Amino acid sequence: MSPVAAPAKPKATASSAAPAPVPGKVLPPFVMVIFGASGDLTSRKLVPALFGLQHEGILPKDYAIIGFARRPKKDEEFRREMKEGVDKFSRLRPVASGEWDKFIPRLTYHQGNFDDPAAYASLKKILDDLAKTRGLTQHIFYLATAPDYFATVVQQLAKVGLVRPGLPARVVVEKPFGNDLTSARQLVDDLQACLDESNLFRIDHYLGKETVQNLLYFRFANSIWEPIWNSNLIDNVQITVAEQEGVGTRGAFYDEVGAMRDMVQNHMMQLLAITAMEPPANLSSESIRDEKVKVLRSIPTPKPEMIPASTVRAQYEGYRQTDRVSPHTTTETYAALKVQIDNWRWSGVPFYLRTGKALTTRASEIVIVFRRPPATLFRAEFGDLLHRNAMHIRLQPDEGVHLSFNAKRLGKSSVQPVDMEFCYATEFGSYSPEAYERLLGDAIYGDSTLFTRADEVLEAWRLVDAVRHGWQDNPMALYRQGSWGPRESDLMLKADGNNWIDLDAHARA
Ligand code: BG6
Repeated sequence: MSPVAAPAKPKATASSAAPAPVPGKVLPPFVMVIFGASGDLTSRKLVPALFGLQHEGILPKDYAIIGFARRPKKDEEFRREMKEGVDKFSRLRPVASGEWDKFIPRLTYHQGNFDDPAAYASLKKILDDLAKTRGLTQHIFYLATAPDYFATVVQQLAKVGLVRPGLPARVVVEKPFGNDLTSARQLVDDLQACLDESNLFRIDHYLGKETVQNLLYFRFANSIWEPIWNSNLIDNVQITVAEQEGVGTRGAFYDEVGAMRDMVQNHMMQLLAITAMEPPANLSSESIRDEKVKVLRSIPTPKPEMIPASTVRAQYEGYRQTDRVSPHTTTETYAALKVQIDNWRWSGVPFYLRTGKALTTRASEIVIVFRRPPATLFRAEFGDLLHRNAMHIRLQPDEGVHLSFNAKRLGKSSVQPVDMEFCYATEFGSYSPEAYERLLGDAIYGDSTLFTRADEVLEAWRLVDAVRHGWQDNPMALYRQGSWGPRESDLMLKADGNNWIDLDAHARA
């Protein structure tokens, strides 16, 4: 039995099995209220994504976007700020003024404090008017606030009757969903008291990435991988999300969170779950999420004595001097861990996860490392160490899949690893829709497949909490900015006779 109690079974709704929006399919009319609209996320990701959806012709004839935030501001100022964001961050820049002119009247601003009932009463009036005058009845409330306000905003919306179990209004929640298992459980209860789980859309923007969605297609739309996708042939699985940027201007936020809660609890656990899951019964959101949560439940909670050998926490040199970071901080900017999935498919196969800031390059990749071939025939020349076959599933950048295998060198009696390669840009051109476009489109449409369910989030917290508690007595490793992380991470794999596979040279396993 998993120590995380399963939340109430989500009610099946027509929307939960709805197909994802397809290009050319127009979404239904809606009003989106973005709470925390003065924040970075709104101008950097959300509004550029909505603008992108309009450009694709996916947004309906009529819709409205209301920015809700504390600072007093006129609509014009809000629109100007959003234009700056789109100019800087949209994939469609330079932005054609005709396109922007069509978009701009949709944007308005509503000033209010998140805990002020009067601000919600006036918001309700605006929404009632929009329903009456323009027939915009589908409400989507996007919580881009600090996590401490998630429950407050939803409770205030409930007080004025804008959300309620049984109502179709949806709430989209940004990460982090809670700070630990206890607070996440509380948040689940607080939100589920105000609306149905099926109308709660928890964002993990990695699920909106094309390459992450392709994992399902790659695994289950081909017959050749399934027979080898298990412990019979796979030696270990390595999941890396490396970032070249340091913490930059996000010191205050990041120092509270750290790599485990910022990246492992959500993005990396999702990547692990999709890589390791069983084939779902069908492609409905519930079937897919049922399989993902089964993987997470199969990971035993690490015991404190296992933490030193199976995890690494580290900080990059200079992190403590970052603006708005405590000079004595013990927050990790790098985390690596070894996870065992205790089920029939994966028994005995370590999954190694690593993520960090200020590393040598930006690269997100899943590497499936196959067992070493028996060297019998080639031992005389190459010893026991024939290269292992490895499948590199490159999520970003240079999106693609590479399979490395051994080949005879031309004209020589020697073995060389070579690469078989599928590259997105070559195959499909360079256009890749932003993750947030897909996710916002799905939230407007009502398809929750690419959002995380309460039970998945709680299972991930169970693991992350256990590691973080174990870390309290563990030393912090250091690493050089621009490196691949601390030596301790290499040693963790070496203890198993493994090594991190070089991500730049695909064929060397
Ligand atoms: C976010 C984290 O969720 O993901 C950031 O809060 C991180 O710290 C970002 O930089 C990475 O996302 P991407 O899409 O750039 O890989």
